[in-house]
Amino acid sequence: MKKVGIIGVGEYLPKHVLTNADLEKLVETSDEWIKTRTGISQRRLADKAEATSDLAVNAAREALADAKIKPEDLELIIVATITPDMPFPSVATIVQNTLGAKKAAAFDISAACAGFVYAISIARQFIVAGAYKNALVIGAETLSRVTDWQDRGTCVLFGDGAGAAVLTEVSRGGIMSTYLGCDGTHMGLLNLPGGGSRNPTTHQTVDNKMHFIKMQGNELFKIAVRRMAEAAEIVLRQANVELSDVKLIIPHQANTRIIMAVAKKIGLTEDRIYMNIAKYGNMSSASTAVAMVEAVKEGKVEKGDIILLDAFGAGLVWGACLIEWSK
Ligand code: UT7
Repeated sequence: MKKVGIIGVGEYLPKHVLTNADLEKLVETSDEWIKTRTGISQRRLADKAEATSDLAVNAAREALADAKIKPEDLELIIVATITPDMPFPSVATIVQNTLGAKKAAAFDISAACAGFVYAISIARQFIVAGAYKNALVIGAETLSRVTDWQDRGTCVLFGDGAGAAVLTEVSRGGIMSTYLGCDGTHMGLLNLPGGGSRNPTTHQTVDNKMHFIKMQGNELFKIAVRRMAEAAEIVLRQANVELSDVKLIIPHQANTRIIMAVAKKIGLTEDRIYMNIAKYGNMSSASTAVAMVEAVKEGKVEKGDIILLDAFGAGLVWGACLIEWSK
């Protein structure tokens, strides 16, 4: 089977920082509650003029420069997002046009916080099958646009950002195994009910705040821990790799307590877990992407290291990806 690796990474975080102290002025909360219950200190918010595709393009440009690949050489662009610029066309087509990636097919996928792991897995299949050589995968979100800033149960959690990776065939290392899971029976625990074909936009859907994220956090918490631990164990087993051989686990950044509980369940020590949730909060599909990019930039991942991406989100969906770094 062809080996597919990541040869370039990039990120973009909007400039505006919203701290826990800022949130104390908006809703009845405290820096102490947010930090101890979630691990979050601050998050980034997109500028009024910035849409998801703008974040995605900035991350993509950095990833292409890092990979030394020209936009014209891309054959596939996949954007994982649940906050597209508009229902259609896809963010990926806007990115394709802005980058000038004239040869690339482009589409979005909706797999919430597991979106980046899902998209990496899909892009890999196209390259393994020989359909395309160079693919660009982006996780990009502007969750601030679908956050109810009067709901303290959700508004303290989310942020905006984008992370990108260029995938191509490599001679050594690369993606060792992937696993994707889904259980649609729990779709009610986390969703955005308004604006689709079930509840088309009306004055009433707006008045009823149906265009904001709805979440039952504590129910999700338990399932997240179980499914992320399971996904990590499955990709290791599939690739016949021991946990002790993994340099770094890069999990979806929803809650420090979830990440620590997953680590405890699979028997991992804190020094081998990458976390940047304190700076950015939960950026859905962008979280795992940005975490991977920053781990690489900080020198925590080097050629030959094995890393494990592990994510969980609305659907419910989850997935993991084991990669031997090839750059
Ligand atoms: O991204 C992938 C999917 N997302 C997740 O996996 C998220 C999973 N869930 C979580 O991370 C956590 O459940 C939360 C961080 C969302 C909430 O933490 P929790 O420990 O589960 O809190 P809770 O919802 O059980 O609420 C505990 C208390 C409640 O008060 P009472 O009923 O005990 O008096 C809440 O009203 O904390 C209260 N509370 C707050 N207090 C201050 C909820 N939000 C806040 C807040 N500030 N922002």
